[in-house]
Amino acid sequence: MSHGALAILGGAPLLSELELRTWPRLGGDEVVAVVQVLDRGILAGDDAPVTRRLEERFAELVGARHALLTHAGTSALHLALIAAKTGSGDEVVLPAYGYIAGPMCVLALGAIPRFVDVDRETGNLDPSSIDDVVNERTRAIMPMHIHGCPADMDEILETAARHGLVVVEDAAQAHGTTYRGRSVGTLGAMAAFSLHESKALPAGEGGLFVTDDDAMMETALRARSLGRDLRLHEREGKPGLRVPSAPLLSVIPGHMFRGNEMMAALALSQLPRLAARISTVQKMAELLGAELDGLPGLRVQRVPADRTASWYKVRLHFDVEEAGIELPPCLFRDLFVRALEAEGVEAGSWQHVLLPGHPVFADVGGFGQRWRDRSPSDPVALRDAARARFPNANALLESSVVLFSERRPLMAQPADTVRRVAAVVRKVWTHRHALQRLV
Ligand SMILES: Cc1ncc(COP(=O)(O)O)c(C=O)c1O
Repeated sequence: MSHGALAILGGAPLLSELELRTWPRLGGDEVVAVVQVLDRGILAGDDAPVTRRLEERFAELVGARHALLTHAGTSALHLALIAAKTGSGDEVVLPAYGYIAGPMCVLALGAIPRFVDVDRETGNLDPSSIDDVVNERTRAIMPMHIHGCPADMDEILETAARHGLVVVEDAAQAHGTTYRGRSVGTLGAMAAFSLHESKALPAGEGGLFVTDDDAMMETALRARSLGRDLRLHEREGKPGLRVPSAPLLSVIPGHMFRGNEMMAALALSQLPRLAARISTVQKMAELLGAELDGLPGLRVQRVPADRTASWYKVRLHFDVEEAGIELPPCLFRDLFVRALEAEGVEAGSWQHVLLPGHPVFADVGGFGQRWRDRSPSDPVALRDAARARFPNANALLESSVVLFSERRPLMAQPADTVRRVAAVVRKVWTHRHALQRLV
């Protein structure tokens, strides 16, 4: 393949964006499953049949005792925090880099997110920084398995046990992955997976709450349906039972977080293919890594040898010094992204600010009033303060790019396309010095 001038500098693009396959890839099984739901005429409910079957099969697959379908991964996280007895003024430890859903659930319960720095390579919560923020109000730790690469769970669990804290895994991106031979989703007391259309088990929207703990399951079951007096034993062996023990009596605070039968059918019909999907994307990530091997100052993110990743996102780390670039990393990053996109490969940063840099955490009105370590109210000052306070998270954000997009992820691409994408990256990297002319 010819490596002419960069497309961003007037050369011919190497790839057309249209050559990349889109996700999700649904077929006949999914159509039949949804039509069967419509024919049956049961569309939702605590004991709706497809919902129950999905919950049982997913729990089995993960190796947990219980799973509950929710209408989003976010609501599964919210249920986990309720089951962890998180209340007003409590604190939850979260990584400073990641997705806003977890911190939002904390805020919605009147609790306070306490952010800590992350591992520079994976973006996952750094266990060694937890002790710095734990105090008498800390209730839980919520590690996110960023891009589907499991966090350092044994160290997190050890710290949690030392302080008597509940660990909730944000496994929204980490379907089918393992940590030291154990299944992600069974490592903490509870976990949440997402069924958003971009994920490995897409159902449009949706989520799955997972736990081994009967009491936490019962609390989550109730909280999912407006705190109604639903009990576990009444569900067992009685598929189809949808009547709470004391009809419509709410016994704990809850929300309306149930999913529906159409999303359950979509997820259930794809469940048998999940393991193959994950194994294929792992092979594609390996192929991409091999194709990009040897580029000075650029590499695909490393996954520690004791775990497997779902490669929900593919991060490329770069080092401006090693690459001989004389620009600040964040400036070069933006040029790199623009150059890749001009060649037809989608790329970006996934997150553009650190989590504590979101304006919702500014000390102005609403949630900000409850802030312990008061944050600046000006959004720019807030963003800069977050950068200074969490150097690893900031370095990760500034010195890496995320390849592919949610609409056209690695998971959807065959080997040929992966090789072509790698050729684009190699082309741009070979001409990286020319990008400096664009400043
Ligand atoms: C790490 C992480 N946590 C939580 C969520 C929330 O999941 P949902 O979009 O299904 O609510 C997402 C969604 O992308 C996520 O990536």
